[in-house]
Amino acid sequence: MIKHLRSAADLDAETATLILDTAAEMAALSGREVKKLPALRGRTVVNLFYEDSTRTRISFEAAAKRLSADVINFSAKGSSVSKGESLKDTALTLQAMGADAVVIRHSASGAPHRLANWVEGSVVNAGDGTHEHPTQALLDAYTMRSRLGRLDGLRVAIVGDVLHSRVARSNVLLLTTLGAHVTLVGPPTLIPRDISAKAQVSYDLDAVLPESDVVMMLRVQTERMQDSYFPSAREYSRRYGLDVPRLQKMPEHAIVMHPGPMNRGMEIAPEVADSPRSTIVEQVANGVSVRMAVLYLLLGGK
Ligand code: NCD
Repeated sequence: MIKHLRSAADLDAETATLILDTAAEMAALSGREVKKLPALRGRTVVNLFYEDSTRTRISFEAAAKRLSADVINFSAKGSSVSKGESLKDTALTLQAMGADAVVIRHSASGAPHRLANWVEGSVVNAGDGTHEHPTQALLDAYTMRSRLGRLDGLRVAIVGDVLHSRVARSNVLLLTTLGAHVTLVGPPTLIPRDISAKAQVSYDLDAVLPESDVVMMLRVQTERMQDSYFPSAREYSRRYGLDVPRLQKMPEHAIVMHPGPMNRGMEIAPEVADSPRSTIVEQVANGVSVRMAVLYLLLGGK
């Protein structure tokens, strides 16, 4: 087993499949009245969140607690980080407290890689800048597999602000490792070159929809945009928003995904987000099982 999960590229097909299979076993637990397993009793998991998060932070916390680990939640606000303490000094503090795993979200791409040099425990990337978010890709793959029965040969469209999306980047890496075909769709200004080498690219959403088993919508990340990448929100929505008429162009079995948080009415219409074909709430639930599997396996579970 690998020690750290910094990138989806850390995972070969065998390891990724082991995580998904273990997550399925963890999910069976969530249906029980007592949701706890003693697997990580006495181990310490630190959640180190330098960037805002709702789902991911709560999900990692729930996952660690269900495995009976001791959980320390650290957020940059209200800590010595606001006094200018460096990531390295924070890491040494965590090291002194004996963290077995550090889950980190940071606005700087590459922060988890640096951290792995400074702590002895396992490092899990919970989102670094515009770079990667490997556990999101795992929970997305898990959701696709449980809804559609397989990943190999699946046609997945990832739509919207790919440029700023760590979710898209990790998904392209993981899904192609697992045999799926990925098409990136969006305005040319929002499709980066580096990652598009591993996927198909299209600027025409309407043409891609009938050919897709999965349509994954991405949030337009205006907080990361210094320039204007499209003429207006209305124009973006008209060309790349998933509304009801577009949903009807998808094959009947096809599902709609979104990592959240959503801009309802921009990249996705509320009726689509709340439709039975949307897996958005399921993705959140699956996130806990997948993160349990990741923590369990990285910390030496068999
Ligand atoms: C994403 C993130 O933070 O990268 N959300 C998530 O983790 N569920 C996507 C986003 O912010 O749009």
